[in-house]
Amino acid sequence: EKGTYPHFMLKEIDEQPFVIRNIIQKYQNEDGSVRLDDDIREAMKGSDRIYIIAAGTSYHAGLVGKQLIEKIAQRPVEVHIASEFLYNMPLLSENPLFIFISQSGETADLRGVLVEVKKRGHKALTVTNVPGSTLSREADFTLHTYAGPEIAVASTKAYTAQMAVFTLLAVDTAKAKGVNLDFDPLQELAIVANAMETLTDQKEQLEQVARDYLTITRNCFFIGRAVDFYVGLEGALKLKEISYIQAEGFAGGELKHGTIALIEDGTPVIALATQKHVNLSIRGNVKEVAARGANTCIISMEGMEEEDDAFVLPAVHEFLTPLVAVIPMQLISYYAALHRDCDVDKPRNLAKSVTVE
Ligand code: M6R
Repeated sequence: EKGTYPHFMLKEIDEQPFVIRNIIQKYQNEDGSVRLDDDIREAMKGSDRIYIIAAGTSYHAGLVGKQLIEKIAQRPVEVHIASEFLYNMPLLSENPLFIFISQSGETADLRGVLVEVKKRGHKALTVTNVPGSTLSREADFTLHTYAGPEIAVASTKAYTAQMAVFTLLAVDTAKAKGVNLDFDPLQELAIVANAMETLTDQKEQLEQVARDYLTITRNCFFIGRAVDFYVGLEGALKLKEISYIQAEGFAGGELKHGTIALIEDGTPVIALATQKHVNLSIRGNVKEVAARGANTCIISMEGMEEEDDAFVLPAVHEFLTPLVAVIPMQLISYYAALHRDCDVDKPRNLAKSVTVE
C-alpha cells in the first residue's frame, strides 16, 4: 500500500535507507563479518570469469557490480545485455559463472540466456528481489536483495539493493581468495544508508533542480566518467521512462566524438562528479558544454564540491558512490514527470515485468 504517499515511486525512493540497513542485517554474522552461502562462495571462488546478464536498470546495476567485483575481489567480470547475449556470445572462459540480475526474476530475455547456459552445463546465480521466481528456481543459487515489493514501473530501491548485495558478494569473494580489504564493507554501507536518508530529506531542493532544468525541455544529457558514467545511464533511463523527455547518458570523454553537436542554448546537461581521479576532466567537459550554451547542473560530493555546484552529495566510500548519486537522479526524474502531469507509477507503453522477448 502507498499509505500517505501520492505515488509508489516516491515511497520506494524513501525506503532505500531501510532497505540497505535490512541487507546489512540479513547478511551479517554475529561477529560483524559478511555471511553468504558457502555454495555461492565456492562457485565464485572456483570460477575464472564472471558473466553478468541483465536488462534495463538491472543492467546498470550490473555495470557497477562489475567494478565492485573487479576492484574488491580482483576477479574478471563481463556485463552483457540479456537480449543481445545469444547473438554475439563471447568466447567463454574455462570455468564461467553466470550471474543473472533481475528485480522480478521473470524477465524473458534473461530466461533465454539462462536456459542456454544450463544446457551447456554452466553454473548460474540469480540476484533477485523475488526468491521463488522463475530465474531463481532455474538457477543453481539465489542471492536475495531484500528490497521488499517494488510496485512502480520505474525501478529505484531494487537497483540500490542490487548494488549493495554485489558489494557483499565482492567482499565475500575477496575473503575467500585471500585478498586483503582496507575497509569495513558493512560499516561503509551503514554510512551509505545515512547518506540516503539525508538525500531523501532534501526533496524540496531536488524538486527545484527539476524545475530549473527540466520544465520546458525536449531533451537532457547526463555525463559522467568512471562509475559516474553508469549512474548517468541510469539517470537518463529513469528520466525518459517516466517524464518522456529524451534523455541520453554518456561518458564525458565521448562528448567531442559526436554528442556535443547536439548542445544548443539551454540544453540541460547534468554532470556527476563523485570520483576524485576524474574530477578535473569531468569539470572540463562541463565548461565545454557551458561555452556552447548548455544549462549545466553539477552534482558533486562533499570534499570535492565547488561554489557553483547545483547539489552536493554526502561523502561515502568511493566504491559506493552510485548508491547515493542515483537518489537525486530518481527524485529529479520523479518531479520532472510530476510537473509534466505524467503517470509516474505507470508510464505509457511499459510493464513492470517484461515476460515476453
Ligand atoms: O525485473 P528486471 O530487473 O529483470 O527488469 C529489468 C528491466 O525491465 C527493468 O529494470 C526496467 O528497465 C525498469 N522499468 C527501469 O526502471
